[in-house]
Amino acid sequence: MKTKIINSPDMIKAADRRPSTTVFSKMSEESLNELSRLIKDKKYYIRTYGCQANVRDEETMRGMLENVGYIPANEPEEAELIIINTCAVRENAEDKVYGEIGNLKYLRKKNKSMVLAICGCMVEQPEILNRLMTTFPEVNLYFGTHEIGNLYSLVYAAITSKERIVSIESKPGEVVENLPACRLNRFKAFVNIIYGCNKFCTYCIVPYTRGKERSRKFDDVMDECRSLVDAGYKEITLLGQNVNAYGKDLNESRDFADLLEEVAKLGIERLRFTTSHPWDFSSKMIDVIAKYPNIMKFIHLPVQSGSNSILRSMGRRYSREQYLNLVKEMREKIPNLSLSTDIIVGFPNETEEEFKETLTLVDEVKYEAAFTFIYSPRKGTPAAKIEDNVPYEVKSKRFLELVKHLEGPIQEKSLKMVGNTYKVLVDGVSKTDEGMLSGYTEENKLVHFKGDESLIGTIIKVKILESHTYSLIGEVVNE
Ligand code: SAH
Ligand code: SF4
Ligand code: F3S
Repeated sequence: MKTKIINSPDMIKAADRRPSTTVFSKMSEESLNELSRLIKDKKYYIRTYGCQANVRDEETMRGMLENVGYIPANEPEEAELIIINTCAVRENAEDKVYGEIGNLKYLRKKNKSMVLAICGCMVEQPEILNRLMTTFPEVNLYFGTHEIGNLYSLVYAAITSKERIVSIESKPGEVVENLPACRLNRFKAFVNIIYGCNKFCTYCIVPYTRGKERSRKFDDVMDECRSLVDAGYKEITLLGQNVNAYGKDLNESRDFADLLEEVAKLGIERLRFTTSHPWDFSSKMIDVIAKYPNIMKFIHLPVQSGSNSILRSMGRRYSREQYLNLVKEMREKIPNLSLSTDIIVGFPNETEEEFKETLTLVDEVKYEAAFTFIYSPRKGTPAAKIEDNVPYEVKSKRFLELVKHLEGPIQEKSLKMVGNTYKVLVDGVSKTDEGMLSGYTEENKLVHFKGDESLIGTIIKVKILESHTYSLIGEVVNE
């Protein structure tokens, strides 16, 4: 199959942080009508991997596709358009995608008129894109994270052309407003406030795949949140790779704390945000979180390591002491605060002593939840160039030791909740037991309980009866 390359990725250009403007090519009304005609009664299927940024992108793609007439498919086998929305943050995330394309490629072999597309963070890396294109000739459309606004033209090109279409421009990116969205949840919504990341932690691929920090305008964020409140949403999560950087790239005197406060004032029942970098988490932000009862007292604060030398090699811009001081200030000002974190084990040349410092930090902070990862070298990042003397077995052993240290306080906290009553936003039927419902408390603890499905989407009171490490069992309290 011939390949038509509209744009190809470039990691050096992707790291560019100079200002830029790009104009999106809009499809003419006539071509849009032509696309609607071509795809009449046809179905689409999207499989998303990775973080909430990708989930939110899926919602935009769904909105666009349904606007033009595509119907959602329950299974990939029914679809004439399959999009695999990929994540590149660690090798195992990428491996899942290779497996998935391997499973789906036969569909296109059987049906040459269908479109099999790959988008998301993986294709932003030139070597991975080349590997994908060589391994999977069945895939006939590749597009990057900055290209979602062009989805109509790309799908149209893939349907009408015999060539494979590739459009991945490593521009730093811009903000496109007013794209439709088909939200995946009826009462919990994610709202992007800032795209991209300028932090360039030395291990991380995200700044290359997502471009530079671009904040949405204050009023645009407020309008979206207001419409969600009006539509009866119960929970909003403000989204960004680092929400604390909100507004710094705009000619805007208002910062993230101001935005958080204004959204809280809209009266949404639950307001959350993710992710916060400890480096620029301001006292003003802490004060706002403390002041508004509808801002959940749950903060995800990735520490990555407890060792100053490793933090320095990671380019994290804070020390262990600064992190612990921040936690202290948060806990003093916000009673009953729950903290969660991300930790990487086995960064290149991490010594046993440096690892132990992560253990002592974890013991001191007593997180309520944590995501732990074994370091995965990402080609093109500075850390991937460091020669590493730590064998994988040592990293795995450290990983298990860390998980043990984290579990103690998590279990303790869960146990303390037994006998008490908490507000729970009911998500739906429990994934582990169909006879139960499940939902999250304000501090983000997962609770399973018996109840009628009419409770889904409401906030109810649940008394905790039993605690497990990562979830709780409770009963509905009728008032
Ligand atoms: N912007 C967010 C999320 C980044 S990705 C933040 O800064 O917290 C989520 C987590 O993946 C990171 O916090 C980090 O712990 C982990 N991660 C990122 N790159 C990694 C790598 N190369 N190897 C292992 N874990 C990684
Ligand atoms: Fe990656 Fe660091 Fe940016 Fe988070 S803050 S996305 S870990 S570079
Ligand atoms: Fe993965 Fe891209 Fe998110 S690499 S974690 S999907 S920003």
